[in-house]
Amino acid sequence: MSQTPISTLPASSPATRRVGLLTGGGDCPGLNAVIWSVVHAAAHCGIEVVGVVDGFEGLVGNDGELNVRPLGAADVRNIASQGGTVLGTTNRGNPFRYAVGSGSNAKVEDRGDEVVRNINKLGLDGLIAIGGDGSLAIAQELVERGARVIGVPKTIDNDLGSTDTTFGFFTAVEVAMEALDRLRTTGESHDRVMILEVMGRYAGWIALYAGLVGGAHVVLLPEIPYRFDSVLDRIRRRWQEEKRDFTLIVVAEGAHPLGGQVSHIAQGTKTAVARVGGAALQLELALKAAIDQAWPRPVPPEIRTTVLGHIQRGGSPCAYDRLISLRFGAEAVELARLGQWGRMVCLRGTEIQSVPLAEGIRRPHNIETTGQLLRQARSIGICLGD
Ligand code: F6P
Repeated sequence: MSQTPISTLPASSPATRRVGLLTGGGDCPGLNAVIWSVVHAAAHCGIEVVGVVDGFEGLVGNDGELNVRPLGAADVRNIASQGGTVLGTTNRGNPFRYAVGSGSNAKVEDRGDEVVRNINKLGLDGLIAIGGDGSLAIAQELVERGARVIGVPKTIDNDLGSTDTTFGFFTAVEVAMEALDRLRTTGESHDRVMILEVMGRYAGWIALYAGLVGGAHVVLLPEIPYRFDSVLDRIRRRWQEEKRDFTLIVVAEGAHPLGGQVSHIAQGTKTAVARVGGAALQLELALKAAIDQAWPRPVPPEIRTTVLGHIQRGGSPCAYDRLISLRFGAEAVELARLGQWGRMVCLRGTEIQSVPLAEGIRRPHNIETTGQLLRQARSIGICLGD
């Protein structure tokens, strides 16, 4: 894929004077740092910023009201270190599949053209949209309908193929690592099998990185369907090698047994994405059933499960995520200044570059099953369930 250094892009439209800024999809540590950076970088080159509240929802003119507010330095004072997003966000409100009514009157409408008109009505030269794969896909659809949009990728899942990493990811890994450190002390004390379920949807990045730095014995990933036998063997070997039942297991929420399915809390609908979850409980129940049936010692190990959930998404961004966020924000403004609409900022090595938005959302980012990360994990004794 061709990334382009932003400094080599030509100015391609009349001067940019006013941009909209929104955060879409699930929140993520670092969003406020991007907002802070966009506002300051824009002020530096004389661009006015209008904040759109609650993602694309703020641009769907329900009752004729657009949910926007001016954003200046005073509005973003001290927010770069804060979690969440001062602009608000939502997983719903896709203007192209917009849910209206309820019960038997519920229907889905295409309000995309209205959003494009509203962007113009607000006198915006373009929009900077910060979001994950879903929100950036909406941004791209808006571009196809004639809107001028620049994308900024965010997600704790790190599952976007066009950027080396997304901000929020390393903060989530830190949180998961700390959870493992804590599960280790209680698990060691009771000599139990401890299972931690972490987020990541259909990518195992949080599970793998946290498992590595948190000293997990077993890491189960969406990329490698696992065998219960393999996990059981690892628990047995813990006893043989160290006379310990204590085993630390990390399960990505999208991990699933060989021949099984990803476990979902709620199926997707026309207007809402599926909610992934339940992988750890599924594993606990299967392990318990197998252990109860046959175990080589009179007292079988106890198993306890923790689902880390949204704790991974809340709170302050770590230093690395903050840095990426600030740099993404500044470069998104640079693209806007140059009139380079329809592009997405991305990280390549140590450089912030950009790709066409359509290219940016094309490829998911999953762990390479034959790559060195998994080889290294195996070589330090981590069981990957295969
Ligand atoms: O995409 C980020 C993410 O946190 C996933 O890891 C998780 O599956 C999902 O969002 C949770 O979404 P919600 O906030 O809608 O429960």
